[in-house]
Amino acid sequence: MAGTTPAPDPARPEPQSRRAGQSEPPSGARQIDRERADGGWTEERAERGTSEHATREAAIFEAREPPSGARQTNTAIDAEDVTRTYRMDGVAVSALRGVSLRIGRGEFAAILGPSGSGKSTLMHLLGCLDRPTTGVLRVGGREVSKLSDTELAELRNNTIGFVFQSFHLLARTSARENVGLPLVYQGVPRKERRARATEALAAVGLSHRLDHRPSQLSGGEQQRVAIARALVGEPQVVLADEPTGNLDTRTGNEVMELLERLNAEHGVAVVLVTHEPDIADRAARQIHIRDGLIERDTGALTGRDTGEGT
Ligand SMILES: Nc1ncnc2c1ncn2[C@@H]1O[C@H](COP(=O)(O)OP(=O)(O)O)[C@@H](O)[C@H]1O
Ligand SMILES: [Mg+2]
Repeated sequence: MAGTTPAPDPARPEPQSRRAGQSEPPSGARQIDRERADGGWTEERAERGTSEHATREAAIFEAREPPSGARQTNTAIDAEDVTRTYRMDGVAVSALRGVSLRIGRGEFAAILGPSGSGKSTLMHLLGCLDRPTTGVLRVGGREVSKLSDTELAELRNNTIGFVFQSFHLLARTSARENVGLPLVYQGVPRKERRARATEALAAVGLSHRLDHRPSQLSGGEQQRVAIARALVGEPQVVLADEPTGNLDTRTGNEVMELLERLNAEHGVAVVLVTHEPDIADRAARQIHIRDGLIERDTGALTGRDTGEGT
């Protein structure tokens, strides 16, 4: 992030996480230089294989340009009766069957539901990694169906940060270079990338791990690197798909505390998927999904104009 302690932004509503942690120690000073910011990318693509989820998730690194014509409202993401049908070998799978929800700026929401209920599909739609089959989806005030692929990538890269269960870090690349990677695709010069990545790693308490590779980090540390990478582009919303799913309870709690603190201190909205009731209870809002439909939403906004311009 450009500032780890930004001035209050009047355009941002109050954050909603229930707990705010303490601030992290100041940034460390290791400055070993290596010029290979995106050198591990091809390797990582090969490692991940070509599953559809992974391919979509890989799109988070595409070019970042400021979107034009975005309306400024308190709604970050707005889905109206959105469906997503996958077609495989002539068979249609209705992963989402008509979902309406609105994610406000600064919100902290948990998505719950059984395996296969459509949670990841929904996250991919909310994050513009995929498009709805039918329905209207607006992200950052822009209607997704009206955007070209390039415009959609720009919108995604300027609005959304992703955190995945399996971290998706480049294996042979330092923490700082992993975090700076989204900025490579935004055309940010190397020196600024390094500075912003260092700052983002300080914000997640990893100033002492700048030059470590993922294999030299614990699972919790790897997820914190992934969170720093999600934040480095200063998104409105961080979407986290089971961010604690590969972590033990204590480490999972630390990651939650970090997300809560980022929500509280930076006003970034957080939407996370979890199987764990303890984790979900910490969110101000719980959205329950079953069989591709929202079964219950404790924080559903009512009325088309709620939250707009207030
Ligand atoms: N790329 C895909 N192609 C075909 N079917 C898919 C694809 N991705 C997900 N599905 C199917 O869509 C449904 C919802 O999947 P998903 O959104 O991953 O659920 P969850 O994240 O809740 O476990 C499942 O039946 C799953 O098998
Ligand atoms: Mg899933």
